[in-house]
Amino acid sequence: MDRRSFIRNSAAATLAAAPRAPAANDRIQLGFVGVGGRGGWLARAFNAIGQKQGLCRVVAVCDIWERRRREAAELYKCQGYTDYREVVNRADVDAVVVATPDHWHATVALAALNQGKDVYVEKPMCHTLDEARRMMETGLRTQRILQVGANGGSSNLFLKAKELLAKGAIGQLIMCQSSAHRNSTKGEWNWKIWPDCGPHAEGDQHIDWQRFLGPAPEHAWEPDRYFNFRKWWDYSGGIATDLFVHLMTTIHFVMGAKVPELVVATGANYRHQKTHEVPDTLNASVVYGKENFCVSLSGTFNSASAGESGFAIMGHEGSLTFRDDRLIFKPEHQVEGNGWIVSSWPSPLEKAYWADPAVQKREKPETWPAQMQDQGESWSEVGPDSTVIHVARFFESIRTHKPSVEDGRAGHHAAAVAHMVNESIKRKAPVAWDFEKDVLKKA
Ligand SMILES: NC(=O)c1ccc[n+]([C@@H]2O[C@H](COP(=O)([O-])OP(=O)(O)OC[C@H]3O[C@@H](n4cnc5c(N)ncnc54)[C@H](O)[C@@H]3O)[C@@H](O)[C@H]2O)c1
Repeated sequence: MDRRSFIRNSAAATLAAAPRAPAANDRIQLGFVGVGGRGGWLARAFNAIGQKQGLCRVVAVCDIWERRRREAAELYKCQGYTDYREVVNRADVDAVVVATPDHWHATVALAALNQGKDVYVEKPMCHTLDEARRMMETGLRTQRILQVGANGGSSNLFLKAKELLAKGAIGQLIMCQSSAHRNSTKGEWNWKIWPDCGPHAEGDQHIDWQRFLGPAPEHAWEPDRYFNFRKWWDYSGGIATDLFVHLMTTIHFVMGAKVPELVVATGANYRHQKTHEVPDTLNASVVYGKENFCVSLSGTFNSASAGESGFAIMGHEGSLTFRDDRLIFKPEHQVEGNGWIVSSWPSPLEKAYWADPAVQKREKPETWPAQMQDQGESWSEVGPDSTVIHVARFFESIRTHKPSVEDGRAGHHAAAVAHMVNESIKRKAPVAWDFEKDVLKKA
């Protein structure tokens, strides 16, 4: 099919399928668009919930790689498609799960919402800021559940952190340091490329390249663009939208923050110039003026051992860190010591200073160990994987018609930070948010 007419058709695709409101004890019928790495995992998770709890069943799958389409259709004993419209237009599909590469998220999700379906769309919510807004607004207008797949808000540990913050455990929140560092072929998205696949191959090897490109600019078949799409601006926003978006979803959830007023970021490609269009190293300062704290984000694909990945939430009276599935609370040990400065004072003044009992209590070294003794507390992640909880919450939202923990607005704002990071890198300047219009301020 000619790609331009395909896109035109996509935009015009609004077949009138009546929304099907599932009855309280009815199974929710799911259609999957994109059953690759993440979509395949989600389909298994949704299907397991369906089998154990009778909540749902997979009734349609769609993928533009024939092998994946066929295997998923066989596994779930359902119809497989290569055109997402055939899934979103099916009257018996209640909810659509979108796990394609990022540049397709908005098109599929918008079509599904407009057909009255509830939508679970993978992170990042979308490929551009404009799309995020449209998705959020369409979710609200159609009154469908729109849940974004960043699962940080469904982690028990992050819930614990939210509780501790609300109780004032760390005092005034000042800053959050958050990082995602990698140093491996897999981590840098140079994954295995299946041989002999592509638009000219037959049978299982066939990939519908025009349908992959969809809303993206025309490009000749290039296996790396298909298999490692995160390395290319046309289909991904690189580290910011793939990794920072997780960090920001969690930070917004834990801190109860919305969208930053200012982001200033730098990005460069230090080692992967020949293979990656997107930068391999990013640093960003994210300022929450209304909430009165800031976030420092960093990520590189070139070194992982020293820059611990995770979060450090730093308050005036304590800190919370997340490392390797553990949450650690540490109180601040405020050790005061003016000895070095008062030693330069005239002797009578220095003596008078040390004679003050309050100074002795606060500053004599023998009092320090006592102050240091409180080593804080730590918690491990217990219970099911946070994605499994996240998926269960999607069903809960569908049944109760209450917005999900990671709804359109939350997805929009988490994606906004990632897009602001990339925009700041491209503009080589700070970028600011227009709170009145809920959009990025123009350059
Ligand atoms: N929440 C998480 O922790 C998490 C983890 C991994 C990936 N993801 C997200 O999931 C999405 C997919 O990532 P992945 O790693 O699974 O990629 P992938 O390449 O393994 O899978 C994408 C699949 O989508 C298919 N596809 C492409 N265009 C399509 C179209 N127009 N219609 C139907 N199918 C199409 C591809 O053929 C492929 O099978 C990305 O947006 C990624 O950010 C989220």
